[in-house]
Amino acid sequence: METLRRGGVIALPTETVYGLAANAEDELAVRRVFAIKGRPATHPLIVHVARAEEVSSWARRVPDEAWRLAAAFWPGPLTLVLQRSARATDAVTGGQDTVALRVPHHPVALAVLDALGGGVAAPSANRFGRVSPTTAEHVRVDLGDEVDLLLDGGPCTVGVESTIVDLSGGAPAVLRPGGLAVEEIARVLGREVPVRTSATVRVSGSLASHYAPRAGVVLAEPSEVAARVAALRAQGRSVGVLGPPTIPLPPDVPRYDVPEDPAGAARLLYMRLREADLHGHDVLVACLPRAEGLGIAVRDRLARAAAPRPPGA
Ligand code: TXA
Ligand code: MG
Repeated sequence: METLRRGGVIALPTETVYGLAANAEDELAVRRVFAIKGRPATHPLIVHVARAEEVSSWARRVPDEAWRLAAAFWPGPLTLVLQRSARATDAVTGGQDTVALRVPHHPVALAVLDALGGGVAAPSANRFGRVSPTTAEHVRVDLGDEVDLLLDGGPCTVGVESTIVDLSGGAPAVLRPGGLAVEEIARVLGREVPVRTSATVRVSGSLASHYAPRAGVVLAEPSEVAARVAALRAQGRSVGVLGPPTIPLPPDVPRYDVPEDPAGAARLLYMRLREADLHGHDVLVACLPRAEGLGIAVRDRLARAAAPRPPGA
């Protein structure tokens, strides 16, 4: 991968979302990733590797539970946080003593990693605080010619970011629900794994106001959608609805369709949020999927999209 080896920054498809990738061992290139994203340099990045064995060179200690999760789910939408080795620099870890690692499940990403023969630091290829890209076109719209190369691997099949599991010490905990169901992780580990999204580590996706579309977002259970829409329209607001086709709506209310099943909702979530943005609604009423499987990640992202934003954001 010549561009990465020369210190370039590329946009790369993965099964979750598109990543903005640099050679993890090239500090200048990693700094450019932060600059392009507009992300604070203290927020750590995920290091992507081609196969599970490679984590031993990036992590000082790989506990048995990490190997078990890696064997069960890699390549796949799972990120493990482990104690870092010297190979994981401050530029990548944001100065923390842990490193986040994952093996993505996408032929293009794996081919790039194989060709580089190293690790690739890659956050989602969106501007800081905005919705993650799930197509090459989304990246083009967000980052344009600021990347040296954009690899088009088609639409992402998972559609939300990886699930982050902290195994750096103490009991395992989920730091970000994502494309791998928490229930699956608990099943392999044979124990409950708590979701701890407000930990002290700097997980930028854990900021309350994140993954934000431009319209205001109002959350609703399926049975509440119609009443919410009616109330908002009575106030003169222009309203769109993000939800499955089974929700009854007045014919003149635009609907951004997502399947009823949680995995289907995850796959299309960001694409539909972007489509809704193009219509410039005042408010998007988002119908919440069931709180199970990938529905937990979808609810998490929608809750962050609905959170109050800092001025100017
Ligand atoms: O699916 C994904 O994970 C995508 C694709 C491109 O792989 N990447 C992604 O990256 O979502 P990003 O940077 O948008 O989110 C990575 C998350 C951030 O919230 C970051 O703070 C957290 O991982 N993270 C990275 N290193 C960490 C560490 N040492 N401890 C805790 N959290 C960490
Ligand atoms: Mg992100």
